[in-house]
Amino acid sequence: MFLHTLFILSLLLGSSHALDFCVADLSLPPGPAGYPCKKSASVTVNDFVFSGLAAAGNTTNIIKAAVTPGFDAQFPGVNGLGLSMARLDMAVDGVIPLHTHPGGSEILVVTQGTICAGFISSFENTVYVKQLNKGDVMVFPQGLLHFQINSGDGVATAFVTFSSPNPGLQITTFALFKNDLPTETVNAVTFLDVAQIKKLKGVLGGTN
Ligand SMILES: *[C@@H]1O[C@H](CO)[C@@H](O)[C@H](O)[C@H]1NC(C)=O
Repeated sequence: MFLHTLFILSLLLGSSHALDFCVADLSLPPGPAGYPCKKSASVTVNDFVFSGLAAAGNTTNIIKAAVTPGFDAQFPGVNGLGLSMARLDMAVDGVIPLHTHPGGSEILVVTQGTICAGFISSFENTVYVKQLNKGDVMVFPQGLLHFQINSGDGVATAFVTFSSPNPGLQITTFALFKNDLPTETVNAVTFLDVAQIKKLKGVLGGTN
């Protein structure tokens, strides 16, 4: 009887241990629920540690800013846990253009500089915008259009946490002008002038 109880107990402990985490097996393709789990025997502490946010991203680009993700594809330990992180670096005049994360809400903490951040509600297109200083935290509800602008005199840095291991990132301007969606279709769906559309397609590498 004692051995029997011990056996059941070990099964229970064994199965609860198996549910502790699901480190991403990056050699397999992800599904809607994330990556398949790596075999626990090959999981190490390094799966739960990510050093990719330690250094500033490269801001020598058109937006003078960089988003460095620590999503499940970069940080296997967050797979299945409902959260992830990223780092934002903005040079002087840097901007994270209007964008959405379809898969999760975002909470941002400023660690350096001054950031003008805002989002737009989907209900009445109400704008919620605020100048954030070091230590300030702002939350951006899931799926809503939002932006961050470096509004200070020096570089700005922020760390963000998402309520998803794979929140996604879609930059509105890139979605409209950095692909082969025909100019006349963009004109029809945005009411923007054809000349402006062609100009932005040219700058961003879009065609048609
Ligand atoms: C940053 O990106 C620019 C443009 O792609 C590149 O020329 C430069 O070498 C990069 N700097 C570093 C430090 O990687």
